Amino acid sequence: MMLHIPEILTKQQVAELRQQLDTSQAWIQGQQSAGFQAQKIKNNLQIDPNSIAYQSLAPRIIQALNNNILLKSAALPRHILSPLFNCYQDAGHYGNHVDNAVQYSNSIGQIIRTDVSITVFLSEPDEYEGGELIVEDNYGCHEVKLDAGDAIVYPATSLHRVEPVTRGQRIAACTWIQSMVKDDWQRSMLFNLDMNLIKLRQHIGDTEEVVALTSHYHNLLRQWAEL
Ligand code: NI
Repeated sequence: MMLHIPEILTKQQVAELRQQLDTSQAWIQGQQSAGFQAQKIKNNLQIDPNSIAYQSLAPRIIQALNNNILLKSAALPRHILSPLFNCYQDAGHYGNHVDNAVQYSNSIGQIIRTDVSITVFLSEPDEYEGGELIVEDNYGCHEVKLDAGDAIVYPATSLHRVEPVTRGQRIAACTWIQSMVKDDWQRSMLFNLDMNLIKLRQHIGDTEEVVALTSHYHNLLRQWAEL
């Protein structure tokens, strides 16, 4: 399931992040965070995760993700990795790849499985040309270029790439989630049920049937969740 989450960051939050990112001295070559196959096709800049700048930037993304109800319902996060901040410019791109299946989390000091990928756009679409995120799944290729502050969420199992940026700069944050529910199809069903339950509750209130269906949601989650 691919999900567009609008305004995961407010324009004000984007402006504050961008002010710091645009003047930062902490940009380094991005290859070092890629896996062996991906290193050869990755051409971008990243904020050094060991820099002081990173320490103040990363928590703001994590907090926004933690506070978003739509993301919680769609991804059912067990753990959210600290984000990478990247910048594509001067024909910078990232060829087709699948993200590493396991990644080390500094915050919990252990490896996590990456089930869900997230990109939070920090540049407005008119600031750059090219730079589309292309995600391939069973239903074909999806081209993604969102407003600054919006996020795209997709299964980490998907082959994806970032097209060359031919004008301007494309700045984004990306990260990964280990979900309580590993399977994308099961997560999609739970998300669908949850969203419809919310609408039903708004329309008809907590009727006996709505309460019964809500227990059904929780019992499915109980069946499928790994903790
Ligand atoms: Ni990737």
